[in-house]
Amino acid sequence: MITVLLGLLLLIILIEIYFRTRPVYVDIARKINGPPVLFFLSCVKFLVSLTMESTFWHLRDYAATYKNTYRFYAFGRLSINVIRAREVEIYLSANRHMDKGQFYKFFSAFLGEGLLISKGEKWAQRRKILTPAFHFNILQQFLRIFHEESHKLVKFLDNNIDNEQEGINLPPVTSRFTLNTICETSMGVKLDSMEEPDEYRRNIVLIGKLLIARILKPWIYLELPYKLLGYKKEIDRPLIPIHNFTRKIIHQRREAFYDGKIVNFAPGNRENIYETKKRRYAMLDTLLAAEAEGLLDAEGIREEVDTFMFEGHDTTSSALTFIFLLLANHPDVQERVYEEIRSAVQSNSGESLTMPQLNDLSYTDRVIKESLRLYPPVPLVSRETNNHVFVYSYIEYARVCSSALKVH
Ligand code: HEM
Repeated sequence: MITVLLGLLLLIILIEIYFRTRPVYVDIARKINGPPVLFFLSCVKFLVSLTMESTFWHLRDYAATYKNTYRFYAFGRLSINVIRAREVEIYLSANRHMDKGQFYKFFSAFLGEGLLISKGEKWAQRRKILTPAFHFNILQQFLRIFHEESHKLVKFLDNNIDNEQEGINLPPVTSRFTLNTICETSMGVKLDSMEEPDEYRRNIVLIGKLLIARILKPWIYLELPYKLLGYKKEIDRPLIPIHNFTRKIIHQRREAFYDGKIVNFAPGNRENIYETKKRRYAMLDTLLAAEAEGLLDAEGIREEVDTFMFEGHDTTSSALTFIFLLLANHPDVQERVYEEIRSAVQSNSGESLTMPQLNDLSYTDRVIKESLRLYPPVPLVSRETNNHVFVYSYIEYARVCSSALKVH
């Protein structure tokens, strides 16, 4: 027993010495400030004690302490956390030398190699296919859906605010309406018209939570313990019905697409499909048109649709929640926003506002942007160097530098 313990102790000491004497650490530690490097066991203790909230606060504290790029080192992995916009720009424009951070691959069970996860050539090709789906004219088409869902949200809040002694728990409410919106704009279906919409909603919210929770559990980073300890099974439970749902919608829309019921599609005319048809366009149509040109297969479509669903509902739901919170805390600002919108609607004879009229709401626009600055729905993005590269004056190492870009 004693021999085993001594052997273990020796192993820990050797690991410690190995990590601490690696040239990359010694060099970076000399050049960039950062929290003290914890000894192996303290590091394990620190990581095991992390929660969503404490992780967020650690990042805030480090940013406040170091006020500039700082390093974080644990178990031989070096992170360079970049917190100022000008350095973030350097990283993000070094696209050729950067891969997505290691945590992104946790999401691939859900999103495959969709835009958020993919890199290099694949990312560039998918991005080219999808760019037309974000055209200004498309947003115009979606305005009706945005209005419908916004009216439903306001009505819901109006009907429930007085019944609730303790207020309304906003995140599930905003997420219900953003999920409806993204479902109709990306897949072209009304979620409430589908079978078991609440089950789909529950699964989508659950899968987001489970995937993010993995980031805080270093012992399941590797696939083997992840599977053996039952975590994969836990994720598969909501994931399988989500994928089946997306595939079913794609299948139905594809049939309508080839029957000519959706768009006047001619190969090579992908960029204009939303302008020529009478039927309602959905982002999925751009993907089906790309498939018809042989640029994408069925699974590729599924990956991109799931990426929209995931990226599009949770971000906008947290943005709305924080905007409401800030307005409630600043009644004077709320009053100005209300007045600006009220007078625009009045000048429009009480009708819902058009796109140019919405663009004219300059005070409201600034309030939204300031809320996003104060409470960014995506507070971190991360990249890893994929080669010997020279980025941001000090980093010249292969596959060792993962950079968490703390955008705010
Ligand atoms: C307030 C709302 C939103 C915020 C704050 C937000 C934030 C972000 C951020 C920070 C990224 C970069 C992630 C990275 O590169 O690591 C990103 C990527 C992405 N977002 Fe959003 N997003 C929002 C809404 C949406 C919506 C509504 C959609 C879909 C309709 C969407 C689709 C995407 C996609 C497809 C990507 C990957 C793009 C690429 O890598 O080329 N997002 N988003």
